[in-house]
Amino acid sequence: MRDAHFSKRFEWNAPANALARLVARKQAEGIALNDLTRSNPTRVGLDYPTAAILAALASPAAMTYRPDPRGLATARQAIAAYYAAQGICVSADALYLTASTSEAYAMLFKLLADPADEVLIPVPGYPLLGYLARFEGVSAVAYPCRWDPHQGWSIDLEVLEALITPRTRAVVVISPNNPTGAYAGPAALAALDRIARRHGLALIVDEVFADYPAPATPAAQTRSALADAGALTFVLNGFSKMLALPQVKLGWIAVGGHTDLVRSSGSRLETLLDFYLSPGTPVQHAAPSLLALRRIIQAQVHSRLAANRRLLQQMVGAVSHCRLLPCEGGWYAVLEIDDALGDEARVLRLLERHNTLVHPGLFYDFNREGVVVLSLLPPPETFRAGIDHLIAMDGDAPEGY
Ligand SMILES: Cc1ncc(COP(=O)(O)O)c(C=O)c1O
Repeated sequence: MRDAHFSKRFEWNAPANALARLVARKQAEGIALNDLTRSNPTRVGLDYPTAAILAALASPAAMTYRPDPRGLATARQAIAAYYAAQGICVSADALYLTASTSEAYAMLFKLLADPADEVLIPVPGYPLLGYLARFEGVSAVAYPCRWDPHQGWSIDLEVLEALITPRTRAVVVISPNNPTGAYAGPAALAALDRIARRHGLALIVDEVFADYPAPATPAAQTRSALADAGALTFVLNGFSKMLALPQVKLGWIAVGGHTDLVRSSGSRLETLLDFYLSPGTPVQHAAPSLLALRRIIQAQVHSRLAANRRLLQQMVGAVSHCRLLPCEGGWYAVLEIDDALGDEARVLRLLERHNTLVHPGLFYDFNREGVVVLSLLPPPETFRAGIDHLIAMDGDAPEGY
C-alpha cells in the first residue's frame, strides 16, 4: 500500500523474498554459507597490490578542491589513454567522470528522458537496471536476448525495434551482458547503431565487464562500441569491475557518435554533473596510477575466473542433468538444470539443506525455469563445495524444502 509521504518510485511488485529471509536466518544462526552469488571482488581473497593502491589514493594534491564538472583532466587523459591503447580515439573532452556506473546511468536517464519516457533494456540482464530507470521516473521496457544452442546468445533486433514507441529515448546494451556473458559484437552493434539512427535514439553501452573476455573469445568480438559509433553513443565503464575496486568509486561516460550530437549532449551533461560533482578528489588524482595497476589486478581476477570456470566444466561435464552455457566473458556462469524442482524451490532447498547460495534465473528475468546463475569469483574451495552440493542435490519435486 502507498504511504502518502513517499514517491511512487518505491512502489514495485517485489515478490515476497523467501530466499533473502532464509539467508538472514542462516546468518543469524552463525552458519557459514558456500556463497556462490558473491561478486564483491574485495571479499573473495584476491591478492591486490594494496600498498600501491593506497599510495595512489594518498596524493597531497587531493587536499585542494578544484571542481571540474567533467572531472579532473589528468584522470580523463588517463582514461583516454586506456582507449587509445586499444586503437580507439576518444578525446579526454568527451569523457565525463561519475562516482560509479550506476550513477552514470542515472545521469544519462536525466539527460535523455522526460518523466514516463522509455528506455529499452536487455532481458535477461542486470537486475538493478530497471530500478535505476524507475528512480529517474523513466520506464524500462525489456527487449529479449535469446539463447540458441547453435548460435549462442543474440539480441532479438526485430523485437527490439518493434518495441520502440514515440516515448523511447535510448537503448541500453550491456556488453558483455550480466549474467549471460555475451558481448554485443560488431555485427549487433552496427545493427543497433542503424536502429538508433533510424529512430533518433541514443545508445547506452555498458562495458563494465569488457576487460574480462573468456580465453576463447575473439578480440574482434570484444571491441568497444566507441570504435564505430555513428548514433549518439554513451559508453559506460568504471573502476568497480575494471580494477575490481568498487569501493574507490570512479566511473565514467565516454560520448561517441556524430560530432554535433557529441557537442550538444556534452554541454548538457556538463551542466548536469556540475550540480552534483560526485567523484571524490583523491580517486581522481589516483586514477592514472590506479589504471597503471590494471594488468596486475586483472591478472588476479582472470586467473580466479579461469580456475572456477574449469572446475565448473569438469564437475558439470560429469553429470547428465546439468549444462553450462558457453559464455564469452564477464564474472558469471549460467547453468541449465533438468530436475523436478522449480527455480525458487531449487535455490531454497540448496540453501536450507546444504548451506549453499546461488541465484535463480528468475532473479535475472530468465523467462524459463531450470536456470541457475553463479558468480565465478568465490574462492575455489567454496566454489567446489557449493557446486558439489548443487549437482548432487535431490531434485525430486518438493514437499517443503
Ligand atoms: C552490468 C553492470 N553494470 C553496472 C554495474 C554497477 O557498477 P558500479 O559499481 O560502477 O555502479 C554492475 C554491477 O554489478 C553491473 O553488473
